[in-house]
Amino acid sequence: MAYNLLKGKKGIIFGALDENSIAWKTAERVHEEGGTFVLTNAPIAMRMGQINQLAEKTNSIIVPADATNLDDLNELVSKATEHLGGKLDFVLHSIGMSVNVRKGKHYTDQNYDWTQKGWDVSALSFHKTMQVLYQKDAMNEWGSVVALTYMAAQRVFPDYNDMADNKAYLESIARSFGYFFGKEKKVRVNTISQSPTPTTAGQGVKGFDGFIAYADKMSPLGNATALDCANYTIAMFSDLTKRVTLQNLYNDGGFSNMGVSNEVMESFMKE
Ligand SMILES: NC(=O)c1ccc[n+]([C@@H]2O[C@H](COP(=O)([O-])OP(=O)(O)OC[C@H]3O[C@@H](n4cnc5c(N)ncnc54)[C@H](O)[C@@H]3O)[C@@H](O)[C@H]2O)c1
Repeated sequence: MAYNLLKGKKGIIFGALDENSIAWKTAERVHEEGGTFVLTNAPIAMRMGQINQLAEKTNSIIVPADATNLDDLNELVSKATEHLGGKLDFVLHSIGMSVNVRKGKHYTDQNYDWTQKGWDVSALSFHKTMQVLYQKDAMNEWGSVVALTYMAAQRVFPDYNDMADNKAYLESIARSFGYFFGKEKKVRVNTISQSPTPTTAGQGVKGFDGFIAYADKMSPLGNATALDCANYTIAMFSDLTKRVTLQNLYNDGGFSNMGVSNEVMESFMKE
């Protein structure tokens, strides 16, 4: 169902890789709600080509950008404001990658070059994106910036590896940058902390099947899907959430406030 919540709003969506991506679902929903946008992803992700289908379906252009590269980000924001005909109302940062996770390097045996690369891609890229938007004065007043995160920033999930630290850093950037963006330009900055979701990035985590099934059994409403996340993001981009900022918002079916559920208990009962 569409509510025209984003009619006339313009933005940039980072991170749509394939149709499972949270950013992909978000782009589809933003389009349904009347918003227009530029799609972007790392040049290497473009080679897979699937993003072209999304661009066609949503009448968008694609501007490749490595989110760790300031020149790329500057060009992206210039092209987006030019193409869309003015300042932006929303930006989705939906980017994550750990080289240590990808290469199966244990948290207690990090390759620090890889740690830094993952931190740059997954956390610092959020600061870089906002710094470019801020310095170019590219956001409209009451605009909204959202990044996606996971609860391993607050609690221990052993196989989430250095992504836990990257997410803690990302959430801190949302608060710190959100202060200045709010004060100077009336722009909101929030993170949405999403349930485990079967995407390329999600499935890269060791033991993902167990991880997602456990979270589902612990959550009174079950895991939030990629579409649920897209819908929450739409609400955060809309004018209905104008004074929500500096928040880490859980979209997790209730998982983050659970101790134990009956279903999980049952698997430990003797009879
Ligand atoms: N899937 C989950 O279980 C889950 C749970 C909570 C939060 N998240 C977060 O949601 C976000 C989106 O991930 P997803 O699950 O949709 O997976 P995904 O693999 O579909 O998306 C990750 C995206 O990051 C992009 N990316 C990687 N390096 C980049 C770079 N240098 N510059 C620009 N883009 C780059 C990839 O190309 C890809 O499109 C991530 O921040 C992820 O950590 C995912």
